Amino acid sequence: MRGEQLPAMTGMLTGKSALVTGAATGIGRAIALLFAAEGARVVVSDVDAVRGEETRRAIEDAGGAAVFCAADVSDEAQVASLIELCVQRFDRIDCAVNNAGIAGPTAPLHEVGFADWSRTLAINLGGVFLCMKHEIAVMRRQGSGAIVNTASGAGLVATPGMAPYCASKHGILGLTKTAAVENASSGVRVNAICPGSTDTPMMQATMAIDPAVKKMILRSMPGGRLGRPEEIAEAALWLCSDRASFVSGEAMLVDYATVAR
Ligand SMILES: NC(=O)c1ccc[n+]([C@@H]2O[C@H](COP(=O)([O-])OP(=O)(O)OC[C@H]3O[C@@H](n4cnc5c(N)ncnc54)[C@H](O)[C@@H]3O)[C@@H](O)[C@H]2O)c1
Repeated sequence: MRGEQLPAMTGMLTGKSALVTGAATGIGRAIALLFAAEGARVVVSDVDAVRGEETRRAIEDAGGAAVFCAADVSDEAQVASLIELCVQRFDRIDCAVNNAGIAGPTAPLHEVGFADWSRTLAINLGGVFLCMKHEIAVMRRQGSGAIVNTASGAGLVATPGMAPYCASKHGILGLTKTAAVENASSGVRVNAICPGSTDTPMMQATMAIDPAVKKMILRSMPGGRLGRPEEIAEAALWLCSDRASFVSGEAMLVDYATVAR
């Protein structure tokens, strides 16, 4: 998107190198743009090379530094190559946002096919596992690093009609807490963000299934509106920055009191 302005910089990530998965669209794209605006050199990654390259271009056009690397987070060889590229290009990985995900099937649990279940878990939970496995190895060698995994409000409460998605997001919180404790003495912080319903292509596709679904989603939100990807990105920025130096193992809701209700 030529001519797009990066938000005003305060340099929260100056000198840092960051990896963002699922950065072609939606929340990941907003995180990549914000991290670059805050001074990070960003590796933009996604399975969608066309839109991923577009995110890279948007960062560069706005004066930031970025490279794009195509990778499917559910494939360990591709994840290993992605992490290698991050280190080759930018020497280190200070911040990693494991954000790639899919909505999975929308049906009651007893109607979900096992193949759909497996695919959703492989991308959403397996992807976070594989990315963390390879990122943590680099960060432990460095003696520092900050990881943010994109979970969801669906990681904390039931999500009728989306059982595989809900289970995958609950699983991400278990992985996050375990990795945070395992790496606490190594200078590596691991946190999760739990966005509420946010206006992205994934959410638009979910709402398009049925007008009743759209109504139900909007009714569930105390503020009466969806979040903006940029609002979710702010939480990832803070958690990845040195300002959150004593925060690890946290699951931060960014949902305008939806789960609190
Ligand atoms: N939009 C919401 O309301 C909402 C709410 C809570 C959590 N989330 C989570 O936020 C994250 C981003 O979602 P979004 O709403 O921005 O959706 P989105 O569909 O706009 O973005 C997801 C990105 O992940 C990429 N992706 C999908 N499968 C991949 C794979 N196997 N490997 C690498 N990349 C892959 C897609 O190409 C896409 O660019 C997801 O983990 C999602 O579950 C979204």
